[in-house]
Amino acid sequence: MLEQLDTIESEAIRELNAAADADAVEAWRVAYLGSKGRLKALMPGMKDVPKDQKAAVGKRLNEVKAALETAYESKKSSTGGGGAKASGPVIDMTEPGLIHSEGVGRRHIISRVRDELVEVFARMGFTVAHGPELEDDEHNFIKLNIPPGHPAREAIDNFYVDDPDKGAPRMLRSQTSTVQIRTMEDAAAKGWGPPMKIISPGRVYRPDTVDATHSFMFHQIEGLHIDRDVSMADLKTTLFQFARAYFGADADIRLRPSFFPFTEPSAEFDMKIALKPGEDPKWIELGGCGMVDPAVLGACGIDPEQWSGFAFGFGIERLAMGKYSIPDIRLLFENDVRFLEQL
Ligand code: DAH
Repeated sequence: MLEQLDTIESEAIRELNAAADADAVEAWRVAYLGSKGRLKALMPGMKDVPKDQKAAVGKRLNEVKAALETAYESKKSSTGGGGAKASGPVIDMTEPGLIHSEGVGRRHIISRVRDELVEVFARMGFTVAHGPELEDDEHNFIKLNIPPGHPAREAIDNFYVDDPDKGAPRMLRSQTSTVQIRTMEDAAAKGWGPPMKIISPGRVYRPDTVDATHSFMFHQIEGLHIDRDVSMADLKTTLFQFARAYFGADADIRLRPSFFPFTEPSAEFDMKIALKPGEDPKWIELGGCGMVDPAVLGACGIDPEQWSGFAFGFGIERLAMGKYSIPDIRLLFENDVRFLEQL
């Protein structure tokens, strides 16, 4: 048996060396290492090997098998792949792929509009401030002059969340006005302001029934400017400049008297723009604004006798829909690439 193994090994190596192409190498593999090959054919003979030689013969058998496999692998790579595979179709690695596999992603339209807005306000001296999306009563309501019992706090109009850590319910913020409060508190506590001029884009949540103009989650951008002698004229100028910078030199704005608990006086503001070239300009409602109520300044540790300020907040989706003629807010959240790649 040991002699047979030696013979097989030397013959196999000789034949493998002589194999000229991938087909010959594959034929060799079948002849020696295949399931009906010469090594396998020795197996039945193992039972006739005397007991005391069994271990030595088994070891030698494994050695020969390993040696032939190694020789085969290196021969295969030097002849460019093993038999069957090499005769299959050749893959050209340099050929360009299908268009779809090359599709380049891009940022979502809401992210892009948000960044454009931030950039426009940054040019007017506003810096970005952030606040948490999981808020408490104090920042979403109390300090914004929305006392207990106010209709805006109704459970059906807000996403309240039980928070065992705080022992009090918290909520997903319903407006970015929370960031006004946090910024004023922080400035007063740490002494870095006023004056202050901040802008805060972010998500807000309201349990509205989803339709073409409502979503349970959307984005707002909040502005706050506090300094000495800030007036309604400054507010209107800022909004006007913003409208021109974002929508172009033809854009106009108007303020309509309104009410918000945290501003006095308060207004809604609309922007007049032609959504498409040649189309008649239309008013679109963008959001609310006003002079920060002295009670709100006081609640945040800022002396209303010395400082005054304006604030505004508007919906980013509404603005994006206006600018890009998007008819349904749901399109912005369904993430259908066929829609998104048009923007
Ligand atoms: N927070 C208001 C809303 O969600 C929008 C708003 C109105 C923000 C007036 C303001 C403001 O800062 O001054 O409806």
